[in-house]
Amino acid sequence: MWDEPRLRFGGDWNPEQWPEQVWAEDVTLMRRARVNLVTVGVFAWSRLEPAPGRYDFDWLDRVLDLLADNGIRAALATPTASPPPWFSLAHPEALPMTDAGVRLYHGSRDTYCAAAPAYRAAASRIAGVLADRYAHHPALELWHVHNEYGTVCYCEHAATAFRAWLTARHGSLDALNAAWTTSFWSQHYSDWEQISTPRATQYLANPGQLLDFRRFWSDTLLAAYTEQRDLLRAANPAVPVTTNYVLADWVPVDHARWAAEVDLVAIDHYPWSVDGGAEEQTAFAADLARGWARHGARARAAAGPPATARVPGDAAAGSAWLLMESAPNLIYTAGRMHAKEPGRMARHSLAHVARGSRGAMYFQWRAPVGGAERFHSALVPHAGPDSRVFRETVELGGILDRIAETDGAVVEASVAIGWDAASGWALRHPGLPSQRIDHHGEVAAAHRALWRAGFGCDVVLPGDSVDGCALLVLPALYLASDAVAAWARGYVEGGGHLLVTWLSGVADEHARVRTGGYPGAFRDVLGVRVEEFHPLADGDEVPLDGGGTGRIWAENVGLTGAEAVRAYAGGVLAGQPAVTRHRHGAGTAWYVSTRPDDETYRRLLTEAALAAGAAPTCPAAPAGVEAVRRRGAAGSWLFLLNHTDRAHRVAATGVELLTGAAVDTAVEVPAGGVAVVREAAPAR
Ligand code: GLA
Repeated sequence: MWDEPRLRFGGDWNPEQWPEQVWAEDVTLMRRARVNLVTVGVFAWSRLEPAPGRYDFDWLDRVLDLLADNGIRAALATPTASPPPWFSLAHPEALPMTDAGVRLYHGSRDTYCAAAPAYRAAASRIAGVLADRYAHHPALELWHVHNEYGTVCYCEHAATAFRAWLTARHGSLDALNAAWTTSFWSQHYSDWEQISTPRATQYLANPGQLLDFRRFWSDTLLAAYTEQRDLLRAANPAVPVTTNYVLADWVPVDHARWAAEVDLVAIDHYPWSVDGGAEEQTAFAADLARGWARHGARARAAAGPPATARVPGDAAAGSAWLLMESAPNLIYTAGRMHAKEPGRMARHSLAHVARGSRGAMYFQWRAPVGGAERFHSALVPHAGPDSRVFRETVELGGILDRIAETDGAVVEASVAIGWDAASGWALRHPGLPSQRIDHHGEVAAAHRALWRAGFGCDVVLPGDSVDGCALLVLPALYLASDAVAAWARGYVEGGGHLLVTWLSGVADEHARVRTGGYPGAFRDVLGVRVEEFHPLADGDEVPLDGGGTGRIWAENVGLTGAEAVRAYAGGVLAGQPAVTRHRHGAGTAWYVSTRPDDETYRRLLTEAALAAGAAPTCPAAPAGVEAVRRRGAAGSWLFLLNHTDRAHRVAATGVELLTGAAVDTAVEVPAGGVAVVREAAPAR
């Protein structure tokens, strides 16, 4: 099933919230909209197991049979993100605890500690029972484990597991004490039992402890996932297994590392901007997901041939991923809900599909009458099917059918941007020179600049192969091990073009600062040596020569081989280099020591990308029209997404798939609309 080009369309369906006659109407509407995949059972634990060990599967049997009879497939979820009240009352020690030691009660969702043995046992039990019952059900297309892993706990179970994890990671207390620099503030540990989770403390906590706790918790959640995955796989190895990633920088999950353990990367994406920022966030989320998927596929390939179902991705990179949730309409932003403009729901979904998603899925199918999220948008809103949103749903279902041939084709990109979960976590420590530094935000800013300039971008993990990319950008890659430093050096020495931004390579993998001048790990390849940071205050800017400003951060950059490309044009650093370029080996390495304003950043990255031989995807696309090209064995497809409120004509030749019209010289992309052109002569 996953081998064929076919785009998935649907969302979370919660028949357990409705009387059975509504199910029949739901399925009729799904067929009308060409829905072909629905997620079921995500939060249904208390319906499936109303009392410990007493199961009620009759309703789910009927739901899955109904889907199968109607040709709709199921992403069947394990319900472990929401333990029933009986579980929490029987196992209060398995409720989550905040860093201040406060136990959180049931009454919401995600009220569990993933390190608590009772929770893990109960979760495995319900997953195992579901696996036994449904692994060969004809409706089953995908297992959807849990929901958005991310809940953190600081309780004693977590502390015990943390100590075991630390023992495995560091081997000895001496190594741990060195990694955490416990000589500072008398924190030396002389017994493993002295180490706890990073509970709320009097003043700044130890950065090494915080960083290791994030890594540990990501691994703990991953173990909770793989435990269930293995049960599901054992019951039927042909059915792929995944879990939906929540995209937020607070999430203690290293999504790239997890990608090796899922058969299909699945993301939930809810852009929070109501202006053009939403389109930029959408493109970034999709490129991230594809990058994680590719990273995971390569890690799996290195580990040996697959023993179980894998969802094939694009031919070249194996980067299969799926938009598992998004909002059809109302999104929550700045204290209120905002309705998406007509056409925007489809445009966002198609932007994900353009960037490799194997479909467009939503939260949720039908809006509930009660519950905490009763006003969350849905494909079938409270108003019912006689509504704009449902009409747009039907329209989108038709579009996805018409562009299905693009599924699986390679997304074209000539620039790669580095992303690293651990750098993001390390930069959240309050003892840094500025509280405005955010790795994820810096990666997004570089992506935004390149997106606005029309370059296709891949996201890579430090150490990944960057073959075929013209320019590699490493934004605020704060942590760099010796291996990562060697990777960047090897890339440039071999002829690569690298652009590194401020605060990269400053610390090693334990968040210990590299001495001798910043940016320690990349000093040689960049040909610079920084003695001092000059963090800027909120609202402060520093002028740059050639126009534009730097924000957030500045540095006094000493040249040790590099040439200055731009200088600071004011303030204490006036006249000193702000942006540098260094010929190193057969390649070139740029250093950007401040965060340029968006327009200056766009110009700067365009200059570096063009110098590296990268080209925008569709130079003819006017401002506000996003272009993505995909290539497959049968040719190439140009996706054009018009984010403006007027129609635009864009030079292209071939066939426009939404209308079926021949395109001789140019295609008209309607205001707020999308065109997908099967290109006559694949552009090169
Ligand atoms: C997440 C969850 C859903 C729902 C939505 C609301 O994606 O997985 O259950 O809460 O957010 O946006």
